Order: sequence, then C-alpha cells, then structure tokens
Amino acid sequence: MTAPHDNRLITKAVIPAAGKGTRLLPLTKAVPKELIPLGTKPVLEHIVEEVIEAGISEVLFVISEQKTAIRTHFGDGIGSVRFEYTFQTEQKGLADAISYAQDFVGCDPFAVVLGDSIIDTNQKILPFSRVLNTFAETDAAGVIVVQKTPRDEVSRYGIVKPKDGIAPSFPIDGLVEKPDPADAPSEYAIAGRYAFDPTIFDYIRRTTPGANGELQITDSVGLMLDDGAEVWCVALQDNEIRRDIGTFESYFEALQIEINKNSNPQQ
Ligand code: UTP
Repeated sequence: MTAPHDNRLITKAVIPAAGKGTRLLPLTKAVPKELIPLGTKPVLEHIVEEVIEAGISEVLFVISEQKTAIRTHFGDGIGSVRFEYTFQTEQKGLADAISYAQDFVGCDPFAVVLGDSIIDTNQKILPFSRVLNTFAETDAAGVIVVQKTPRDEVSRYGIVKPKDGIAPSFPIDGLVEKPDPADAPSEYAIAGRYAFDPTIFDYIRRTTPGANGELQITDSVGLMLDDGAEVWCVALQDNEIRRDIGTFESYFEALQIEINKNSNPQQ
C-alpha cells in the first residue's frame, strides 16, 4: 500500500436506484423499491445516512421517470451534503446506470452504493468507509465490498478471485457474475459498495450484455483487470451482514432484523 494522495480522496457517491424492481411486484408498482419501509424509514434513507456518515458531500441518484418519488423524498440535500438526480432512460443494467454519472463525476474518483442493499455493522469503521480508505491507500482503479457466502448460493452473485489470499482488504485478479458453484473462484460475493476512478466509464462503454442480458458492472471491472489495473476488495467481517431487499425473501429477512433491532434497541 502507498500513502494516501489528495486525488484519491472520494467525496462523491452515485446511488443507482432506477431498476424496475420486478421481483417485488406488486409492491413496486407505484412505490420505488428503494423507498419501501425498513422499520421507521425507507431502505434508501438508511443508505443515505451511511453515505453521509462516511464523509461523502455530493450524491447523485440515478432514477427513472417512474421513480421521481425518490427526488420528492430527499430533495436537494441534507445540511452541507448536496443531492443531484439523473434519469436512466432504459433499464439496461447496473453498469449502464453508472454510466449516467459521468458528468457528475468528471475527473474525480467516486463511490457507488446500491440503492437496495444495506450493510449492518458493529465495527468501528463502516465497511463503506473501509472502501474509501482502501482506495486512498492503494493504487487500485476499483475497490469492492465482498461478503463470504455459502458455496451453494454463489450462483446468485458476482464472485471474486483473490490474487494471493483473503485479508481484511486484498487484491483480486478476476471475477465472474453468477458462476456455477463448482466453477466459482472463491466464496466471496460482491456486496453492493464500490469505489472507482473515472477509467471505469471506458470499461463500461466496452461492456457487452452479460447475465440476464444486462450490462453488468462485474463485467466492466473484469475488463479493467484484463487491462492490468489493480482491483481490491474489502471483506465484511463475521458480524457484518449485507441486507439486500431485492426479493420478498431477502426483504422479509431484512425487515425481521430491523424489527428485532427496534424491539431490543440495545442490540
Ligand atoms: P437490481 O438488478 O437488483 O434491481 O439492481 P432491479 O433491476 O430493480 O431488480 P429486478 O430484477 O427488476 O427485480 C441493483 C440496484 O441497481 C439499480 C436498482 O435500482 C438497484 O438499486 N439499477 C439496476 C439501476 O439503477 N438501473 C438498472 O438498469 C438496473
């Protein structure tokens, strides 16, 4: 690792929240998936709080014409943190959603935080902050949060291939979207938080449709690795849990944890 440089300090975050949320129909017919309640506030408000706690000062929400309720909810900022909005016209996948951030990002490095997944932690330093720190302390063009996952579930996620071994943060030399358990290069799944330098936009432009016929950011990061760029991961620790609300099963699980937390606030 090298010493942090000012130009590796990340103050901008992009929150893709333009997806159709088809797996949560009919709940998401009129209500954006990212605004469904998780306890006393919408999922996305938990995420915005995390982003602000990590020191981000400018946030771009990628939304769609059907999801302007997100703009109504959050407005143009909280305190000194500014919010902007852009519209993804066609839902071609996560990499396509991120490509809408190019003007907002300019020449700066930036973070990507998925609008439908929160991370519970009792560590002193948030996983998202550890992503920003790893980006500042390495020469990585990309940093990704990963979570150890049971092998029979790896086919649901993007899975990374560690270069040397697993550590709290570690470099990788490959990754694959939704592999068969037998072919998976590890049990570490991509978990919804990223940091990139602006070269990612070149790789997104070169990305072709992948899993589900969508432009997958996993494939764009793969192209980055093919070009010899460094990509690092930050591993969630045992007591840190990603809560993804993309399916009813995972949403109910996330909701149950939230209900338990609210009925036992000391936990
Ligand atoms: P998902 O693929 O889980 O969301 O994307 P989705 O497409 O809304 O889900 P289904 O398959 O229709 O149920 C993860 C995050 O990326 C955003 C989503 O809004 C979500 O927060 N996303 C996804 C976009 O912004 N644009 C896209 O084209 C796809």
